[in-house]
Amino acid sequence: MSIAVCPGSFDPITKGHIDVAIRARTMFDEVIIAISTNAKKSYMFSVEERLELASECVADLDGIRVEISDGLIADYAKNVGASAIVKGLRGAADYDGEQAMALLNRHLTGVETVFVLGDPNLSHIASSFVKEIASYGGKIEDLVPANVAVAIRKKVGA
Ligand code: PNS
Repeated sequence: MSIAVCPGSFDPITKGHIDVAIRARTMFDEVIIAISTNAKKSYMFSVEERLELASECVADLDGIRVEISDGLIADYAKNVGASAIVKGLRGAADYDGEQAMALLNRHLTGVETVFVLGDPNLSHIASSFVKEIASYGGKIEDLVPANVAVAIRKKVGA
């Protein structure tokens, strides 16, 4: 059985992330959305909250599940027996950021990275912008699933 790992902070998960996971699922039997925490970053949601929100979003999607990943994603991918890490690209800037990481992950444990082009209609979505828009009272309902929009609004008090 082939397994793919989709890693990220998912603070919180967006429609863009889900699109990439669904596309990964067309190529792999099982897709694990692996939620990590970078000590240098500050998050709106705790890792448990990010896990809960993402799990709700994929509950009806066969073969896609969410887990928390501590440590290096290259180790995590190896430990779960993943054939590849799958990353979504929204454009060239994403690729520039991802290239070194993909090569380092391969260097670390031999895991390959597969890049997927997401739906161009979702290419403007980024968790950081969604949170910023919400903090100014802007509309986020088209950018994130309904449960996520509710959770963000609670956090920003809107
Ligand atoms: O969503 P993000 O914050 O851009 O995710 C970044 C990523 C994928 C690096 C992070 O979620 C992660 O997996 N961190 C674990 C540490 C790690 O493996 N870093 C990459 C070293 S090459």
